[in-house]
Amino acid sequence: MPEESESRFSIAPRYWIISAVVFGLFSAWFTYSIRLKHQHGVGVFGYVGAEKCKQCHEKQFKDWQETRMARSFEVLKPGVAVEAKRIAKIDPNTDFTHDAACLPCHTTGYGLVGGFSSIEQTPHMAGVTCEACHGPGGGYVETVMSRDKPTFLAKDAVEKGLQYPPTEAVCRVCHNENSPFVGMDYVFDFKERVSRGTHHHYPLQYTHDKQR
Ligand code: HEC
Ligand code: HEC
Ligand code: HEC
Ligand code: HEC
Repeated sequence: MPEESESRFSIAPRYWIISAVVFGLFSAWFTYSIRLKHQHGVGVFGYVGAEKCKQCHEKQFKDWQETRMARSFEVLKPGVAVEAKRIAKIDPNTDFTHDAACLPCHTTGYGLVGGFSSIEQTPHMAGVTCEACHGPGGGYVETVMSRDKPTFLAKDAVEKGLQYPPTEAVCRVCHNENSPFVGMDYVFDFKERVSRGTHHHYPLQYTHDKQR
C-alpha cells in the first residue's frame, strides 16, 4: 500500500502540467474564437444573402444596389474597367472571376459558411453585400432581429454576429494595400467613405438601446 500511494504521488504533477497545457490551449482557442466572432463573425454564423435583408430593408437594398460595391464582381470580368486595369498593369482581357487572389475582396463571405464559393453556385454572394459590412445574418436575422420584436437590443444582435455600426476595421479587411489597384500610399478616410458610398441612411424607428 505505501508503494502505491508513493507512485500515485509521483505521477500526479505530470498530469497537472498536462492539464495546465490543455487548459491553456483551450482558453487561447476560446478567447481567439470569441474575438473573431466579435470582429468579423468569421466561421461562427452563416451568411444568408442580401435578398433576405431586402425583405425588411427595401430602401437600403435599393440604394445599395446602385453602389460600386454592389457591382464589384463585374470589374473582375474581361473587358470591364479596362482603363483601371491598364494603369495597374493588369491584362484587361484576363478573366478574374475565378481567381482566388481577387475573390476575397470582390465577393462576400468567400469560402465561409453560406458565403461566396463560385459565381455558378453562389451568384447571390458576388459583390460586397450587406453582410460584408453588417456581419453574417445567420445568427441574428429572424432570431434577435425580427418584425415581431422590432425593439430588440443592439447588444443582443451584436452577440449573434451583427456589426453595428460598422467600424473602420470592417472596411479595412478589403480597403488595404493588398489591393493591386491601390498604391502603398493608399489612404482610406473612413468618414468620407461612409458618406460617399454605402447606402443612404434612414432613421430607425427604435433606438435599440444605443447612445445616439
Ligand atoms: C485586399 C482586397 C482586394 C483584393 C485582393 C483585390 N481587390 Fe480589387 N479592389 C479592392 C478595393 C478596396 C478597391 C477599391 C479601391 C478604392 O476605391 O479605394 C478595388 C478596386 C478594383 C478595381 C478598380 C475598379 C474601378 O472601377 O476603378 C478593379 C478593376 C479591381 N479592383 C480588380 C481586381 C482584380 C482583378 C483583383 C485580383 C487580381 C483584385 N481586384 C484584388 C480590393 C481588392
Ligand atoms: C468585402 C470587401 C469590402 C468591404 C468589407 C468594404 N469594401 Fe468598399 N469596396 C470594395 C471594393 C472591391 C470596391 C471597388 C468596387 C468597384 O469599383 O467595382 C469598393 C469601393 C468602395 C467605395 C466606392 C469608391 C468610390 O470611389 O466611389 C466606397 C465609398 C467604399 N468602398 C466604402 C466602404 C466603406 C465605408 C466600408 C466599410 C463600412 C467598405 N467600403 C467595406 C470592397 C469592400
Ligand atoms: C459598405 C458597407 C455597407 C454595406 C454594403 C451595407 N451597409 Fe448598411 N450601414 C452601413 C453603415 C456605415 C451604416 C450607418 C451606421 C451608423 O449609423 O453609424 C449602415 C446602416 C444601416 C442600417 C440602419 C439604418 C440606416 O439606414 O442607416 C440598416 C437597416 C442597414 N444599414 C441595412 C443594410 C442592408 C439591408 C444592406 C444591404 C442591402 C446594407 N445595409 C449594406 C454600411 C453598409
Ligand atoms: C424579418 C425582418 C428583418 C430581416 C430579414 C432583416 N432585418 Fe434588419 N432590422 C429589422 C427590424 C425590425 C429592425 C429595427 C428597425 C427600426 O428600429 O426601425 C432592423 C434593424 C437593422 C439594423 C440596425 C440595427 C441597430 O442596432 O440599430 C441593421 C444594421 C440591420 N437591421 C441590418 C440587417 C441586415 C444586414 C439584414 C440581412 C442580413 C437584415 N437586417 C435582415 C428587421 C429585419
